[in-house]
Amino acid sequence: MGREQRRLGILTGGGDCPGLNAVIRAAAQRCAQRGVVLLGYRNGWDGVLAGDPMVLDSGAIKGILPLGGTILGTSRTDPLQVPSGVDRLREVLERDEVGGLIVVGGDGTLSAAFELVEAGIRLVGVPKTIDNDLAGTDFTFGFDTAVTIATEAIDRLHTTAEAHNRVIVVEVMGRHTGWIAAYAGIAGGADVILVPEYPFTVDAVCDRIRERERRGRNFSIVVIAEGARTVEAASAPVDRRSRVRAGEVSTWLASEIEDCIRTETRTVVLGHIQRGGSPTPYDRVLATRFGVKAADLALEGAWGRMAALQGKEIGSVPLYDAVRQTKFLDPAIWEIAKVFAS
Ligand code: F6P
Repeated sequence: MGREQRRLGILTGGGDCPGLNAVIRAAAQRCAQRGVVLLGYRNGWDGVLAGDPMVLDSGAIKGILPLGGTILGTSRTDPLQVPSGVDRLREVLERDEVGGLIVVGGDGTLSAAFELVEAGIRLVGVPKTIDNDLAGTDFTFGFDTAVTIATEAIDRLHTTAEAHNRVIVVEVMGRHTGWIAAYAGIAGGADVILVPEYPFTVDAVCDRIRERERRGRNFSIVVIAEGARTVEAASAPVDRRSRVRAGEVSTWLASEIEDCIRTETRTVVLGHIQRGGSPTPYDRVLATRFGVKAADLALEGAWGRMAALQGKEIGSVPLYDAVRQTKFLDPAIWEIAKVFAS
């Protein structure tokens, strides 16, 4: 083993995601098993730029497997947008004698990571997002936890919607894709599921609710992804940072439904609840497998690759495969959703 691989580094970037601590623990444990020290950089790329790492020894990773969030903290800082950022990364990694980095992130963090590899920074990636919209991997950790939380919420909303003869519009995360909406909508038995991939009309939503009312079902559950939009809208409304405005589409749709159906309608925006708290067992296992694989990739010097779930196996793909396109909702899943919900 070369001198570079005696010390590796890890950082978590972008929005947090249940399972990040399981990745950190797994990578640290694998490194320790191989006689390698793993340094953790705090708050995403900010920590490398600041040059302030912590040693991820057995004491540092004790008890973190079931914890939500990330013991390292996170940020959306892109070092490529920081003046002399890449030079500073090189300087700190050299000073810390870190042979390569494990970068755990979503589309933003991994897109920067891909460009940094091109600029000569040695790193490997781990795909992270509750949205499950990263290409190159069948699933990302965090998604199962988000679906579990959203499904439990839908179950609870069912009983109160039925008791009050109401329509409840439940907004889940998913700026670009409807993975959470489709899975939680199917699992929770939603009556209407709306996703960014398939624009909707208010008329079709109201027709579906009316059709239920004709069958004596005087309540309905509408699950909508935050990035869903109507066929008339060019795109979903966004904020200053070009991000979908949470709550906007569901609040608007609830008032449209009330106007056309005249049934009391309520809106529930699940928001960051879907990202908080302990990961499910599935996510803990997937995150652990990714952490071990990422450490192995770094130990081999397989720079520019990302750990990936391929069927039942953990393999790896070039980072470019993950960032060059969005992984939209599987049409086969949408077909299943359409059997039960419009
Ligand atoms: O990318 C994950 C995600 O949870 C999206 O579903 C959501 O739109 C976004 O992050 C929210 O980001 P922030 O935490 O910056 O509000």
